[in-house]
Amino acid sequence: MNPTDPVYTPADLAHWSFRGTALAVLGHPIGHSLSPAMHNAALAVMARDQERFASWRYFRFDVPPEELPAALALFHRCGFCGLNLTVPHKVIAFDHVVEIDPGAQLIGAVNTLLRLEHGWRGYNTDGHGLAEGLREGLGTALKDADVILLGAGGAARAAAVECLQRHCASLWMANRTAARLDALLAVLRPVAGDVPVQGFDPLSPPAGLPTGALIINATSVGLHATDPLPIDLTRLPRPAGVYDIIYNPPTTPLLLQAAGLGVPHANGLSMLVHQGARALEIWTGASAPVPVMMCAAQAGLSLVN
Ligand code: ATR
Repeated sequence: MNPTDPVYTPADLAHWSFRGTALAVLGHPIGHSLSPAMHNAALAVMARDQERFASWRYFRFDVPPEELPAALALFHRCGFCGLNLTVPHKVIAFDHVVEIDPGAQLIGAVNTLLRLEHGWRGYNTDGHGLAEGLREGLGTALKDADVILLGAGGAARAAAVECLQRHCASLWMANRTAARLDALLAVLRPVAGDVPVQGFDPLSPPAGLPTGALIINATSVGLHATDPLPIDLTRLPRPAGVYDIIYNPPTTPLLLQAAGLGVPHANGLSMLVHQGARALEIWTGASAPVPVMMCAAQAGLSLVN
């Protein structure tokens, strides 16, 4: 991201003069989003091969949640080709699209909208981002993996659905608030097929947890320097790898502990990049230059820190 690039608001759409193909990320706040840097770098490279992308640009908009429904209609009227949604819009937008990709239906949230003539089609590319991020960051596939997933919010739901759709061997979910975990398990069990799905208290890990599991942190614990561990790895059988979907800060207490124990670990930057690449492919119908997006995300991250 170029920090001097403007942060727009829906009010700017009243006199929107950009005549190329517009994409945007909508969030609140949005100032630190790495998406404009990733997507504009990718589009610049794609334009070298395909001239049509020379007129594509990706903007950022600060949209308060109460303004989102009206803003989505406005972006459509202004001819935007695609939108990304970030905190706190992913669930709200789910009810304001005219079509839903089946992959997003189960997650109950959308992070990517594609323009149709009569409204928006909603997708969720976070699960794809996670699966590709794990492959790139840890060299691990979700298929046949025993997964210990931390969290029961929106990020955990998207991750759990991806684990089940990719036929993990077993899914163990831990969350601070038991009621929230139970509610999520009730949604997941009917779609789990023959994959065993179990919940537990992260402060009392049960006997019987698998050795060699893949641990995924999908809680927000680790975003702040003073945060505790979301789970104590020394109380679990030795895992095969630890993936933290947090990427800023790049090192969380959980990743530090994994490093100290000599357990392979990676942060969520690869997930961010791959969810973005998938969104760009949905909008453009062309393949996205993932390494270019990774470089831009890394450079953007060093600017905001
Ligand atoms: P998101 O949509 O990004 O997943 P969320 O819905 O607010 O965000 O979920 C945040 C997750 O982090 C939840 O699993 C939350 O646990 P609770 O359900 O118990 O709230 C977890 N979380 C946040 N702060 C936490 C803390 N201090 N200790 C343990 N878990 C925490």
